[in-house]
Amino acid sequence: MSKIGIFDSGVGGLTIARAISDLLPNEQIIYFGDSAHSPYGNKPFELVREYSKEITKFLIKEKKCDCIIIACHTASAAAYEYLRDSFKGTPIISVIDPVVEYLVTDDSIKKIGIIATATTVNSGSYQEKLTRRKSSLLYSILPTPLLAPMIEEGFYKGAISKEIIHNYLAKPQLAEIDTLVLACTHYPLIKQEIAEYYTGRIKIIDATNIVADKVKKILEKEGLISTKRESPDEYYISEYKESFEKNAEIFFGKPVHLELKEI
Ligand code: DGL
Repeated sequence: MSKIGIFDSGVGGLTIARAISDLLPNEQIIYFGDSAHSPYGNKPFELVREYSKEITKFLIKEKKCDCIIIACHTASAAAYEYLRDSFKGTPIISVIDPVVEYLVTDDSIKKIGIIATATTVNSGSYQEKLTRRKSSLLYSILPTPLLAPMIEEGFYKGAISKEIIHNYLAKPQLAEIDTLVLACTHYPLIKQEIAEYYTGRIKIIDATNIVADKVKKILEKEGLISTKRESPDEYYISEYKESFEKNAEIFFGKPVHLELKEI
């Protein structure tokens, strides 16, 4: 059995954990939601990097995870290269690289819109990786800082979320795109509302299945896919918040038992 370490600033990464758990049901997931420091999306890179380092240390050294998935675009943008170089020997997977790989290999994609947190946008990570891999691709990236807190507060599939989402999607930066990337692990929860806005005119991409497929390929290559489940998944949060348990169930699709672990 492989131990897959997954972390996020909070509940958003559970959308990725769910996709991995569906695709690789016999591997053990060790999830860490950094609720004490959430949200990451408006914090300086250095701080996000520091939090990410402490979490990765916990997942590798204490929990003995075989690979780490940074299930947060903001932490991937701020800390992926740093973690990869600091924890050599354990595969570290960012959510950004598999999405970029997908975008540059689909030749039907010509003009991309990306929505993300302010820290992800300011890092320049998507911009640098897309330009380096396929300079002919047109893209624009828009910070949508209200979306993650809005979702976390339970405002989705309603009049308020519709108003905010439509306001962002109508911005000139997103005009005439053929593909929209939901570059935040919270956004799959509003994918349907976004799809309703575009009424099938464009492709809408999020990282969940793309990242789960990538993890499966890595484990297959290493011969690490298990046929039998041995231990239950573990879910940690760094600060108890009453809303977290309810939110975790919504993001994961079923109840999760959360343990407190301060870092
Ligand atoms: N889940 C984070 C991401 O994918 C955003 C939430 C936050 O701001 O912490 O970027």
